[in-house]
Amino acid sequence: MSRLIVISNRVSAPTADQPGAQGGLAVALTAALREADGIWFGWSGKTGETSGLKFKTCDGVTSATIDLPEQDVNEYYDGYANRTLWPLFHYRLGLTEFERDFQGGYERVNRLFGEVIGPHIQPDDLIWIQDYHMIPLGWVLRQRGLTNRLGFFLHIPWPPTRLLTALPEHRRLVEALFAYDVVGFQTREWLETFHDYVINQMDGSIGEDGRITVGGRTIRAIACPIGIDAQEFIASANSQQAIATYDRMVESSIGRSLIVGVDRLDYSKGLEERFNGYQRYLETRPNAHANVFLLQIAPPSRAAVQSYQDIRAQLDALSGRINGAFADIDWVPLRYVNQGYPRDVLAGVYRAARIGLVTPLRDGMNLVAKEYVAAQDPENPGVLILSRFAGAAAQLDNALLVNPYSPDDIADAIERALAMSREERVARWTTMFENVRDEDVIWWRKRFTACLMNA
Ligand code: F6P
Repeated sequence: MSRLIVISNRVSAPTADQPGAQGGLAVALTAALREADGIWFGWSGKTGETSGLKFKTCDGVTSATIDLPEQDVNEYYDGYANRTLWPLFHYRLGLTEFERDFQGGYERVNRLFGEVIGPHIQPDDLIWIQDYHMIPLGWVLRQRGLTNRLGFFLHIPWPPTRLLTALPEHRRLVEALFAYDVVGFQTREWLETFHDYVINQMDGSIGEDGRITVGGRTIRAIACPIGIDAQEFIASANSQQAIATYDRMVESSIGRSLIVGVDRLDYSKGLEERFNGYQRYLETRPNAHANVFLLQIAPPSRAAVQSYQDIRAQLDALSGRINGAFADIDWVPLRYVNQGYPRDVLAGVYRAARIGLVTPLRDGMNLVAKEYVAAQDPENPGVLILSRFAGAAAQLDNALLVNPYSPDDIADAIERALAMSREERVARWTTMFENVRDEDVIWWRKRFTACLMNA
């Protein structure tokens, strides 16, 4: 059997300190790496002089990480990845920074990854590269003479052609994708926007079975939505810690309906617009005031980037204004929390919440929506309110789908969710749950790797 090599910016293989503390993607990839005797390569997350790869084996999985010098972190991670590609691919041209140094740093780090990882690759290894940080890495590896099967999966949206062409080096970036054998997108929508670029900017053609030909090179591009580790998350929702958290939430709710949002503190998540929608609900439904509260969990992320500092300051101010305007001596409408919680705790919070409010302005997938569904009590499930601009909306179309930019849409959906009969809640939840259970992260991984093996 071929070994599986996974390469991504961050490595979430189990560590000796936290052997079980992984997210769904990490759990699925770890299981595959363990079966296939593979290695997970990536950045250690540390800034320091590069002293080569550090290998570690824990729980039967080997990871290999490298530190990056400060200039590389600034130009590659904070720069090109998070100030250029992230905003552009999330349709935020106004936040996108076009700096040649960022692009230089991005290509330099991708070359460095190729140099340090290349020698550890064996001829029949299956190589799977993850996400926008590493688009050129396949091309770098091919330049080194690698003929292995190479796959790439994009976890974020693929932008419309007109937006992408704002990037001076758009053609070079897309051409690098043609070094792979299989390129995966989260949804058909992103796949189709990729097709549009290939047809209109590269004079390429789309064939059967996802085959795309440009010049003499044919690759496969597929839509392959990522899922959560549903069985594991259901087990989390029934864990001691989840049950204790559920009880704690019920006690602290004192009969009020809990609305929950859980997101990295990122402008793409639509938190400001969500707070505005909640504010609209409070303004227009004064009788409902003390019956409801919103718990927004938003751990800060990418704090070195100015746009993330800005959104944090805006949310601090807005949450203060909402509470200042509406709170009563025995009721706070918005609990805004800037820290992360373990999975079992989140599962308990989700289960206690009458509404899961997931309203990103643009999102490749959104696994919180799927976790919320998986954590519900089948007899008495809550209601998912989901942005129609999240990749997850293609699968979870029985959620209440909203325009995340519209405060009225959000306010109306909250009202409708709170009034929804148990029968309707169960009916909507059942079809969503079947999807979350069947198209889980293991299904995703097997589907992609099977496609890669047959490429
Ligand atoms: O969803 C895209 C993504 O970049 C993931 O790859 C990553 O795990 C997550 O966002 C968090 O981002 P970061 O690694 O920059 O903190």
